Amino acid sequence: MTGSTPTTPVNCDFDFDPSIIAGKTAIVTGGASGLGEAYTRALHAAKANVVIGDLNAKTGSALAASLPGSIFVETDVTNWASQLRLFQRAEQEFRGVHYVVANAGIAPKDDVFAFSGPDTEPAEPDLRTIDVNIRGALYTAKLALHYAIKLNGTIPSPAQVDTCLILIGSGAAFLDCPRGPQYQCSKWGMRGVMHALRRTAGFYGGRVNVLSPWYVRTNILTQETFDAVEGVGVQMATTEDAGRALLRLLSDREINGKMLFIAPRKWSSRGYVDLDIDDYAGTQFHGGKLLEEIQEDQIKPGPVSLGLFAGSVGGGR
Ligand SMILES: NC(=O)c1ccc[n+]([C@@H]2O[C@H](COP(=O)([O-])OP(=O)(O)OC[C@H]3O[C@@H](n4cnc5c(N)ncnc54)[C@H](O)[C@@H]3O)[C@@H](O)[C@H]2O)c1
Repeated sequence: MTGSTPTTPVNCDFDFDPSIIAGKTAIVTGGASGLGEAYTRALHAAKANVVIGDLNAKTGSALAASLPGSIFVETDVTNWASQLRLFQRAEQEFRGVHYVVANAGIAPKDDVFAFSGPDTEPAEPDLRTIDVNIRGALYTAKLALHYAIKLNGTIPSPAQVDTCLILIGSGAAFLDCPRGPQYQCSKWGMRGVMHALRRTAGFYGGRVNVLSPWYVRTNILTQETFDAVEGVGVQMATTEDAGRALLRLLSDREINGKMLFIAPRKWSSRGYVDLDIDDYAGTQFHGGKLLEEIQEDQIKPGPVSLGLFAGSVGGGR
């Protein structure tokens, strides 16, 4: 899809063929544990070369050592030089970067929400969540785009190889999650990045999609939090479901500008589903038709050289 309107929802209910992933090179940030480990394992099982970038050298090296052909690069996604080294190393080892999963993320207690008491001046909030979840992911997005252009140039052609950036949202990218304004804003933000890139990525043979997990038991929250979710009767999706959802997005070159929700089986037959909330075509809600018209008539895609919004009205392809 080079800038055309995204089409029908992704079919999440069949045994897809992941064979186009074999032989490709994939970077997974935060790939040493939790959901990132599941993405790493799924990609390895699909015969991709996986480059794990994570803060945790012990866990990351052990995982890479257990998956022949994978490598680990100690990485802090909030540090530009560190992420640049991760991508450089991937290119040196495997001569190109095809898939990038911008997975590293944190969800600590949110200082923006905290009340310091009526008699205490509020302290400057700690914005680490923004640093990791937004700054880190934007660094990853820039590098993914750079390496996609390096592989494919900037002139669309059938010879371009498939590349794909996967951004990580959350249920917090569309549901109200009280008490966590930084986390919620960072996850809505990933949908924003996808919307900004999906009509231009095709110029570079590329795609951009989002995976949005609902609760999946990892170390991102306390185990008591996950127990409480199960306590109200929710049978959470598993990390393996998330791994398969990633492969589903990568398995089909036509999938661009989409978001899959990793959700309990109660709501999704295989642990992931396309909610189809990122497009306005045919949308029935009040204002949907208006948004569809503005989007289609006034905001046209273009290559990176056109700059921000340039060529928008009446331009593009
Ligand atoms: N688990 C869930 O319920 C859930 C739900 C919605 C979204 N998510 C998202 O999924 C992603 C992964 O979450 P998880 O549950 O696996 O978390 P996790 O805490 O279990 O694992 C996170 C991994 O990222 C690494 N990491 C953290 N900061 C880093 C940094 N600055 N640079 C490099 N690596 C770093 C950690 O070392 C760890 O290996 C996050 O973006 C998170 O927001 C998770």
